[in-house]
Amino acid sequence: MSAANALQQSIILTGFMGAGKTAVGAALARQLNCEAIDLDKLIAEREGRSVPEIISEEGEAYFRARETSVLRELLERKTRGVISLGGGAWALERNRALIIEHGCYTIWLDASFELCWKRITRDKDVRPLARSRSGARRLYDERRPLYELAQLRVDANLERSAFKVATEIVEAFR
Ligand code: S3P
Repeated sequence: MSAANALQQSIILTGFMGAGKTAVGAALARQLNCEAIDLDKLIAEREGRSVPEIISEEGEAYFRARETSVLRELLERKTRGVISLGGGAWALERNRALIIEHGCYTIWLDASFELCWKRITRDKDVRPLARSRSGARRLYDERRPLYELAQLRVDANLERSAFKVATEIVEAFR
């Protein structure tokens, strides 16, 4: 699907932890006048506990299974929206297949490792899968080629606010 058609579809934002998916998702939904949906937030609501709690209490495999089922449920609703994924969701082949099958337009927010790591260490939310810099760096390098599979790459580096990144995405649709 071309970028010009993307406005008819739900938009999926992917990228590493700390790339700004939630903030850009909210700004983009405002500009497109549609709903902003944060997948992790929805999983936490369903489970009645936070994502870090789910991962530490039940393990990553349990979280990934919930992630896929909530994503499927979201995609099956027909309302158009901007869906911000957690950083690992797009890395799983089954989730990419679901997203493609539902005809969503996929956008990769590409932020440098240094910026992501700065935000990871600054945020009050714990990221159980990024406890050490070396572990996070490894995941970042492993996932980059998968993020590259998204239809649009957007530079999400420091000097650009969520509003500016969202504006650039909207302009790419024109
Ligand atoms: C994860 C990223 C997190 C959250 C979970 C796992 C990952 O979301 O889904 O901690 O594997 O990259 P954010 O990308 O919003 O931090």
